[in-house]
Amino acid sequence: MNSITSPDHPSRYGTTSDIKGTGLGLRGVHIPEILAQLPDIPWFEILADNHRAGGGFIPRQLEAIRQHYPITFHCVGMSLASPDVLDMTYLRDLKRQIRDFEPAWVSDHLSFSQLEGHHYHDLLPIPYTEESLFYVSRRIREVQDILEQRILVENVSSYVEFNESSLSEMEFIHGLLSEADCELLLDINNVYVNCQNHDHDAATYLESIPLTRVREIHLAGFEAFPDYLLDAHNNPVSSAVWDLFRQFVERRDDIPVLIEWDNNIPEFSRLREEANKADRILARQRRTQVA
Ligand SMILES: [Fe+2]
Repeated sequence: MNSITSPDHPSRYGTTSDIKGTGLGLRGVHIPEILAQLPDIPWFEILADNHRAGGGFIPRQLEAIRQHYPITFHCVGMSLASPDVLDMTYLRDLKRQIRDFEPAWVSDHLSFSQLEGHHYHDLLPIPYTEESLFYVSRRIREVQDILEQRILVENVSSYVEFNESSLSEMEFIHGLLSEADCELLLDINNVYVNCQNHDHDAATYLESIPLTRVREIHLAGFEAFPDYLLDAHNNPVSSAVWDLFRQFVERRDDIPVLIEWDNNIPEFSRLREEANKADRILARQRRTQVA
């Protein structure tokens, strides 16, 4: 790792806009209730891919949400680690969406979903090597140059590890933050799922996170199968992940948090309970610091 510089060197594009508190992933089924009641939610995360080429929510509804709340864009289609050339049509569409809706920031995943022109509906992991590190870093820099802003890159859940990997996931992420000049979207549920699936220690993993480069935290629920955990986003955040979150906020309590719940979507009030729990943990941590 000697060839990799510190992740704290100055960024070409500066930091992304500011958002505070615990936000929610926006789901179409909740929009009428949100617009009718304008609940006290600090921000919403929008899955930008759902709104390409006029798809997704009625644009008028999305614009109405945007009038009342800060938003961020979450993406699944950049395919940052794909061997294919960058999808310029996708990126040009995304840039237009960014211009129209002005998200505070844009994120995607440390994975690939496109190979030889075929789109897979999965976020597929890659081997962690020096070669893949510099390859993915170069692609992220290219994406940032096209979008003219820094992006957030999220650690993904995985169900296999590669014999070819010569770096740990955390060594790879440290290198990526430095070489790609991006920020980190830390998904604590993904950390837990991976550590359970691959027999690593989640607490040790979190302790090695480069704190200054974490721009957003994801919390979500998994589904437990006999031999593995599936990052299914169809359940409440588990007690084990809440424990890891508490551990993390002892080190930093000022990072925006996002509750992801994409399948078996509950009532909006249930989603708010999850966000309120995250806020209570953050508030308790801040009181501890003051005392
Ligand atoms: Fe996530």
